Amino acid sequence: MSERTYPPVGGMRTVADFKKHLATLGLSIPCDDAVETGGLLAQPLEVHGKTIGNRFCIHPMEGWDGTKDGRPTDATRRRWKHFGLSGAKLIWGGEAVAVSHDGRANPNQLLINNDTLRELATLRETLVDAHREACSTTDDLFVGLQLTHSGRFSRPNDKRKAEPRILYHHPFLDKRVGTDDVYPVLSDDEVRRIIDDYLRAAQLAQQIGFEFVDIKHCHGYLGHEFLSAHTRKGDYGGSFENRTRFLREIVEGIRAVAPGLQIVVRVSAFDLVPFRPDPDQSVNGKMGPGIPEVYDQALPYRWGFGVSSEKPEEYDLSEPMLFLTLLQRLGIRLVNISGGSPYYNPHIQRPALYPPSDGYQPPEDPLIGVARQMEVTSFLKHKFRDLVFVGTGYSYLQEFLPVVAQAAIREGWVDVIGLGRMVLSYPELPLDVISGRGVQRKRICRTFSDCTTAPRNGLPSGCYPLDQYYKESADGAQLRQIKNLFPAKAQRTQS
Ligand SMILES: Cc1cc2nc3c(=O)[nH]c(=O)nc-3n(C[C@H](O)[C@H](O)[C@H](O)COP(=O)(O)O)c2cc1C
Ligand code: SF4
Repeated sequence: MSERTYPPVGGMRTVADFKKHLATLGLSIPCDDAVETGGLLAQPLEVHGKTIGNRFCIHPMEGWDGTKDGRPTDATRRRWKHFGLSGAKLIWGGEAVAVSHDGRANPNQLLINNDTLRELATLRETLVDAHREACSTTDDLFVGLQLTHSGRFSRPNDKRKAEPRILYHHPFLDKRVGTDDVYPVLSDDEVRRIIDDYLRAAQLAQQIGFEFVDIKHCHGYLGHEFLSAHTRKGDYGGSFENRTRFLREIVEGIRAVAPGLQIVVRVSAFDLVPFRPDPDQSVNGKMGPGIPEVYDQALPYRWGFGVSSEKPEEYDLSEPMLFLTLLQRLGIRLVNISGGSPYYNPHIQRPALYPPSDGYQPPEDPLIGVARQMEVTSFLKHKFRDLVFVGTGYSYLQEFLPVVAQAAIREGWVDVIGLGRMVLSYPELPLDVISGRGVQRKRICRTFSDCTTAPRNGLPSGCYPLDQYYKESADGAQLRQIKNLFPAKAQRTQS
């Protein structure tokens, strides 16, 4: 058995080396030779009458560190403070905040209701104050809240107990979350009650100063599952019109109860069939590379959105284009493009050299995953020029993130560069890039995936390899778990 290895980006010393590797892979993503201080990445842009002061966005990222009743903790406040200090002028929701207890992805997810409201208000203020401290003004800072219901991936009461809320039965994902053929699907009345939860949540978000809400439609959670509910009966399944009714009713409702609150959407605009570790190449407890589920018996494939029904190892953007047309019609202008799901095909969602504990070895050079995200976004941007696009998947570019980001903006591939994992390890990267200070190599995210592995194993999320805070604030039991889960950096190998 031969192990596949991919050259680590951190080992490429110059932009020329990096470009050479891109060429070897046959990738043609844009890449500049150097970043201009105060150049394109520092240019403002206008959306919904609001000026966003530069081209960096902080993607939503949960820390699994709220209280049992959904309030932020010191760790949550610290993360939001970092988001503010980053200098990025678009804060896409901070993190996924559940609209109801049942819809929480874990018992430590933030929850928005009357009881948690004051602390959520303080959380937003923490971010804004930190931003003022770092950038002197907040006039051009645009801060929203990501609203979510975790649907199939709900675990509201116990980290170890899945309590899925599903819209239809899925040939591969049912097994993974333990829903058998007779497990009930949400009724249309239950869906309507969830829509009411979104409206209440949006009203509350507006009351405490958030300027927009994201109606999350990505990563396999409930909003995203609606888009693939081809086999569901009733008002919310089947036709494209029915599958987008959930979004349309939420948008219409928010406009009525919270006039002036802007609405944005983060969507998994492309997808592939679920992947799993290749059992033939999994040895000595080490997972094999990811391979697609065997789908011959599931054709035409009707359980995805943005995926080819004939060849579900490939994406298909025809319905996502209809979706963007719908967003335009609904007056939504700001869109954040993501893909797939961290639960069933993480290599397309967050390209990484090292897999999380429930994942698989990368089936491709992670740069191919970055290019896929960028190319999909570019294709959609060229079709929908009046929408403002935030792109995803840039962290794996590491040292070369700034040169690729600048080139992507200049060549019109994307409008705003979204940053996920990179700001967990290195929050100040946007300011360092814009001010011309250059990047601090020691703080660059190397995609070790510990921030995904930790919550999969019941620990708070965070950058365990590069941010000492998590080890310092852990109790004895957590420390033992951390030691078992995460080998020292030096011991990590690429395979
Ligand atoms: C620890 C962690 C938590 C995340 N939480 C969320 C979330 O709450 N909402 C969301 O839309 N995406 C979430 N994501 C996905 C990121 O927003 C982003 O799409 C992903 O990390 C890829 O971007 P990157 O390459 O810059 O990391 C999370 C990712 C990580 C690593
Ligand atoms: S744990 Fe740190 S280095 Fe690893 S992927 Fe997450 S942010 Fe990056």
